[in-house]
Amino acid sequence: MKKTALITGTSSGIGKATVRYFAEQGWNVAATMRTPQKETELAQLPNVRLYALDVTDPQSIQQAISSALTDFGGIDVIVNNAGYGAVGIFEKATPEQIRKQFDTNVFGVMNVVREILPYFRKNRAGTIINVTSMGGRITFPIYSVYHGTKWAVEGWAEALQFELRPLNIRVKNVEPGAIKTDFYERSMDLFQKEGLTDYDRYEQITYNNSQKAGEDAPGPEVVAKTIYRAATDGSSKLRYPASTQSSMLLFMRWVLPLNGFMGIVRMAVEKGFKS
Ligand SMILES: NC(=O)c1ccc[n+]([C@@H]2O[C@H](COP(=O)([O-])OP(=O)(O)OC[C@H]3O[C@@H](n4cnc5c(N)ncnc54)[C@H](OP(=O)(O)O)[C@@H]3O)[C@@H](O)[C@H]2O)c1
Repeated sequence: MKKTALITGTSSGIGKATVRYFAEQGWNVAATMRTPQKETELAQLPNVRLYALDVTDPQSIQQAISSALTDFGGIDVIVNNAGYGAVGIFEKATPEQIRKQFDTNVFGVMNVVREILPYFRKNRAGTIINVTSMGGRITFPIYSVYHGTKWAVEGWAEALQFELRPLNIRVKNVEPGAIKTDFYERSMDLFQKEGLTDYDRYEQITYNNSQKAGEDAPGPEVVAKTIYRAATDGSSKLRYPASTQSSMLLFMRWVLPLNGFMGIVRMAVEKGFKS
């Protein structure tokens, strides 16, 4: 029987590429997004159905999961992909910006998992895949709030897999490096605070270096393939670095003393800045 994946945040980037890839491999896909009425391309694919789902709205999650279960007869894999970057100097962030970032990237993931667990538990089967980030295990300047969310999901998921293992439910974190998507453009929420100028040069230089990394990055297909591997390799492996950059940096973080590693990060992200 065909397997079914439900994926969040599929209007663009990694989510959209993952819908395409799973559909190409013959899976049914419940492609969920905030505004499915705007989507034209995915709706044309065979075995793909669109559902409205905002990860901050528990009722929409419940409705989308229930409709997908009815339409496809089951769900084998959940991909928690929806998320965005709230970015900038921490002192410039408003409490609302910080809360919204955690509501989406952390509590949104927990909302979806809470809703699917009774079904997975009943079946004694299911795979939960979280699209975290290499930024869930290492850090860069101007991303402190975003890193807080991705480190939170990494730690939560690592603990959760203990509880779910005896029920044959797998938990996996897919960790992309920089990937060229709308993440660096329309999806980004930039912190701004008029009159706070002390950070100006540092912020400008680190922002430009980070945007350049996004421009030079590979497309989202590499992450879609890694998500598919995590869904199908049959292992209980928890972490999947999802690009060459991610594999390299996470390996360096693993083998180097923290101070040495942070020196290398500073050389890259503060390039052009002399204090
Ligand atoms: N691009 C990178 O460099 C990179 C690196 C590491 C990790 N990631 C992670 O990869 C995931 C996907 O990002 P992307 O790079 O593909 O960026 P993207 O193209 O901006 O896609 C983000 C998706 O999340 C959706 N979304 C945002 N808030 C949502 C909410 N409340 N409910 C449901 N959907 C919501 C967006 O929907 P709308 O169209 O409605 O806004 C969009 O579909 C994110 O979790 C991101 O943190 C990205």
